[in-house]
Amino acid sequence: MEHGRGMLVVVVLCVSSWQVAAAANGTGGGGGGRPRVPAVLVFGDSIVDTGNNNAVLTLTKSNFGPYGKDLNGGVPTGRFSNGRIPPDFLASRLGLKDLVPAYLGTDLADEDLLTGVSFASAGSGYDPLTSTLVAVLPMQEELNMFVEYKEKLAGIAGEAAAARIVSDSLFLLCAGTDDIANNYYLTPIRPIQYNITAYVDYLTQLASDFITQLYRQGARKIAILGMPPIGCLPSQRTIAGAGLAGTDECDAARNHAAQLFNAKLKQEISCLRRTLQLQSIGYVDIYDVLQDMITNPCKYGAPPNWTSLLLLKRARSRRILELSRRNPSLARCCVRACRVRCVDERMLRHRELRGDDSLQPGDGDDVR
Ligand SMILES: *[C@@H]1O[C@H](CO)[C@@H](O)[C@H](O)[C@H]1NC(C)=O
Ligand SMILES: *[C@@H]1O[C@H](CO)[C@@H](O)[C@H](O)[C@H]1NC(C)=O
Ligand SMILES: *[C@@H]1O[C@H](CO)[C@@H](O)[C@H](O)[C@H]1NC(C)=O
Repeated sequence: MEHGRGMLVVVVLCVSSWQVAAAANGTGGGGGGRPRVPAVLVFGDSIVDTGNNNAVLTLTKSNFGPYGKDLNGGVPTGRFSNGRIPPDFLASRLGLKDLVPAYLGTDLADEDLLTGVSFASAGSGYDPLTSTLVAVLPMQEELNMFVEYKEKLAGIAGEAAAARIVSDSLFLLCAGTDDIANNYYLTPIRPIQYNITAYVDYLTQLASDFITQLYRQGARKIAILGMPPIGCLPSQRTIAGAGLAGTDECDAARNHAAQLFNAKLKQEISCLRRTLQLQSIGYVDIYDVLQDMITNPCKYGAPPNWTSLLLLKRARSRRILELSRRNPSLARCCVRACRVRCVDERMLRHRELRGDDSLQPGDGDDVR
């Protein structure tokens, strides 16, 4: 399961770090002209765990290859990714550092604590049962570690400075995916107690409680990530049904659950903004941006699919083929050619759906 997610992480960060950094700037949460953010403090699951699970007795780990293959010459750090993950991108964008260390990591220097750490634990979720199922840290334990962190910070910087750092820091919260993917749709316990609507309500309430606890502990700038299109994760497509595996289809039920949660979370955040009188709290959408990447891979530079180019050729879309002959670098995805391909692919699919068999003239030389 974590493999599917690890793949996703790469994508998530590119996009969301922008939005979160913009929110930290004040454009997302209202207001403006706030002081520089001194640190990022991160809570949640594998999307934002930079290596805490290395120190936890669980199978939910990623401290082995190919994880980390593109990170500092190929070091698996416990990030569920080939490279850096969202907190790292965010910290870079805020000008703090390139990598956000795990709070449970070894060799943490004072400077690391001063500029931010991640308390996240892969496999965790808002629902305490989710972390129990895979023996990782519950969200409540992440919060306990933060309380301990604050004491360390006061030891380094003094009480007043530590309190200032906490209130100026950007808190990043990302959880819920495992509640839906690895708990509700994988174990019978919660489905007996809740239908999906009621479960999503329960999760939203837990998220709200968590945010309120962060606020009570001094957090004043909080960015909360919504859920990704969970039904499109390869693991979830496989689990959801054989008919789905290996096709382009995503699982509608899981995607619906994610959208339901996102809508409720957004509402709850607006509500908290009023009740806590907290201007700089914001919801960060990752659903729509990821969905767009899944639907329109060419827009994001995905390499061409030669099999489908061949199909296109058979469908007499000679334009692409000629282009690719003239320009071999198309193999690395020339944006314009890809756009053309995407358009043609849509036409192809459309015609397939209509059962138009003029697609199979079989006149083809190979595309090589
Ligand atoms: C944040 O604000 C600074 C200064 O106003 C600006 O240069 C920067 O582009 C902003 N960053 C984002 C992500 O909006
Ligand atoms: C789901 O459960 C809630 C609370 O138990 C109930 O009010 C609601 O009608 C249920 N929804 C469906 C679609 O069964
Ligand atoms: C390439 O396209 C073919 C035909 O449309 C499809 O069956 C195959 O899964 C695609 N490969 C990838 C890697 O998307």
